[in-house]
Amino acid sequence: MSILSIVAKHVVNLVPYASARRLFKASEQGGAKPVWLNANEAPTGNQYSLDTSLYNRYPDCQPDAVITSYAHYTGLAKEQVLVSRGADEGIELLIRAFCNAGKDSILICPPTYGMYAISARTFDIGVEEVPLGNDFQLDVPNIVAKLDRVKMVFICAPNNPTGTLPEPTDVETVINAAQGKALVVIDEAYVEFAQDNALGWLVHEHVVVLRTLSKAFGLAGLRCGFTLAHPLVIETLLKVIAPYPLSAPVADIAAQALSSSGVDTMQKQVAQILANQQVILHSLSNLGDIELVGAQHGNFILFRTSYKDALMAHLVEHKVFIRDQSKQPQLENCLRISTGTQEENAKLLSLIEQFYTTQEATRA
Ligand SMILES: Cc1ncc(COP(=O)(O)O)c(C=O)c1O
Repeated sequence: MSILSIVAKHVVNLVPYASARRLFKASEQGGAKPVWLNANEAPTGNQYSLDTSLYNRYPDCQPDAVITSYAHYTGLAKEQVLVSRGADEGIELLIRAFCNAGKDSILICPPTYGMYAISARTFDIGVEEVPLGNDFQLDVPNIVAKLDRVKMVFICAPNNPTGTLPEPTDVETVINAAQGKALVVIDEAYVEFAQDNALGWLVHEHVVVLRTLSKAFGLAGLRCGFTLAHPLVIETLLKVIAPYPLSAPVADIAAQALSSSGVDTMQKQVAQILANQQVILHSLSNLGDIELVGAQHGNFILFRTSYKDALMAHLVEHKVFIRDQSKQPQLENCLRISTGTQEENAKLLSLIEQFYTTQEATRA
């Protein structure tokens, strides 16, 4: 009898999330330095110091220095903040704590971040889809119509991969309609690149905001994220979280990143990334048949080209890695690039330019 015959029924047909690092492994890129523009990471990292003398002890479940500094950063009470292994663990905790396996469902609005559906399916939770409508805005009537059937609505703002922000009036309508029925989870992984945030909606007991240090703070390798919500929601999540979700070095580094000088550095780096993004945007829209798609409220750009596969192959050949988004609904032939350093962006643009020049020469 194969060991596979005893795997849980709902796990048998699961397909793991095709993360950027699973598709192209960093450890396998010998030779020329790879350019990573496929995971919406910050292009540069910062230095932190570690005091290893206390690492013989287990860390606190919710390290006070981290919780206090994130509460200060957001202007919330400490009781409204939960820290976890990335925002991805926040998604998982919400699903585990609020959904009954084999019975309940979550609602997502594709094209959007893939982990909401993957996380739900991992716990035998159903996934209802209400695709984004015109200009990738929420299809409010269809979301509202399904609220009796779901426990949780995920709204990604800015949305990955379209870079769009939902209309605040639409978010308000969904929140009002979800009262007493479902949680409204607003994923703000890219909020530092946008001009607005959802913290004001936290006056409602059923609204949750997800945050991360993986993007603007340049700490994707740290795995540290935050769930912001009413204290009753946070208390509920604390019932299902692991006893030591953050290792001591993670907590130490997160506290430094969230100090006033850490936040200052982050803001300067965000300004630089946004300035670099404008340069790519300007050049990109003049290249080949490239058509920009969505908006750019995050640190990434989505575009469409009928040469999607050939362009992707050309970039991979030169060790420049971007992300194919064409399997998502409404995103046929779409590729997404994260904004890198000036040098990385210049390399990307020159390769794209070279690609289209060759295409034109071949066709002539
Ligand atoms: C919209 C969105 N939410 C959450 C995450 C995951 O964040 P973390 O690295 O904190 O798990 C990502 C990562 O790409 C994302 O794009």
